[in-house]
Order: sequence, then structure tokens, then C-alpha cells
Amino acid sequence: MALVIRRSRIHGDGVYTTAVIRKGAAVVEYTGPRLTNAEADALYEHSPRTYLFGLINGSRVIDGDGIAAFINHSCDPNCEADEVRGQVLIFARRRIAPGEELAYDYNLYDGDRHDTAACFCGARKCRGSMYSPTELARRQKPRR
Ligand SMILES: C[S@@+](CC[C@H](N)C(=O)[O-])C[C@H]1O[C@@H](n2cnc3c(N)ncnc32)[C@H](O)[C@@H]1O
Ligand SMILES: [Zn+2]
Repeated sequence: MALVIRRSRIHGDGVYTTAVIRKGAAVVEYTGPRLTNAEADALYEHSPRTYLFGLINGSRVIDGDGIAAFINHSCDPNCEADEVRGQVLIFARRRIAPGEELAYDYNLYDGDRHDTAACFCGARKCRGSMYSPTELARRQKPRR
């Protein structure tokens, strides 16, 4: 895939395609070492930005070391991330034109309860946070 990193209107740097990507195509793998949650917490404790991708079993995260780690979050994304046998791939949800920024829904689910993970994706239906709808609903409930 012809992907480049450029300044993004969403946040910092983002990933753009210079060629058409067809709907359903596997665009790029989210590569990097697998860390335990404790290792990742220690590494990114004081960082407002992380390059972590949580794996399904919940005990490990990928510390992104490739171009996929620069893909920003959108609440109305053109890509989606899928884990296939321990490998995380980014797929196109629709045809993507040259010059478009790639984005997927981070659907964040953990983190500090007071951290809103504010979203600046600019989508008409932006939910205002990179947390998943389920996580946001959970946070609405009073704690015992
Ligand atoms: C994997 S990095 C993405 C690349 C990042 N833009 C950069 O320049 O390094 C993830 C971080 O980017 C930021 N980010 C990504 N999408 C965002 C969004 N829609 N709104 C606000 N911040 C975003 C957050 O700080 C997040 O922790
Ligand atoms: Zn948003």
C-alpha cells in the first residue's frame, strides 16, 4: 500500500494513502512488540499519547513500531482494526480515495476514570471521546 505520514487535522501526524484503496482491502498490519499491561503502563505512565493496541485476550498490548501506529482515531472511520490469530490488521471499511487520511475507531475501554480521552476527529457524529460507546455508558453509572 502507498501510505505516507503527514500532519493531520485530527491530531499530530496521521497516515494518508496516495493510491485508491478498495473496500475490504487489508491496508497495513499493526506491528510491534507485545507488552504486558504493567510494562505498557510503566512505559507510557506520563505520556498523553500512546502507540498501544489492546489484544482481545486483554493480557497483552502491541507497542506499535510501524506506520499503522500513526493512524488516528475517528468516530466515523474509513478503516477498522481486526485481530486475526494474534495479528492486528487494518481493513478498509469503504473505498478510500488518494489523499484521504486513514482512521479507525480506537474504541478505548480502560484508563483513568477522570481522563475523557477527548476526540477531535471532526465527524458530524463525533461522540467527543475515543472511548467506546460501551465504556462511555459504563462511566455514566455511579460507582459504588
Ligand atoms: C497511535 S497515536 C496516533 C498518531 C499521533 N497523531 C501522533 O502524531 O503521534 C495515538 C494518539 O494520537 C492522539 N489521537 C489520535 N486520534 C485522535 C483524535 N481523534 N482526537 C484526539 N487525539 C487523537 C491521542 O493522543 C492518541 O493517544
Ligand atoms: Zn470523534
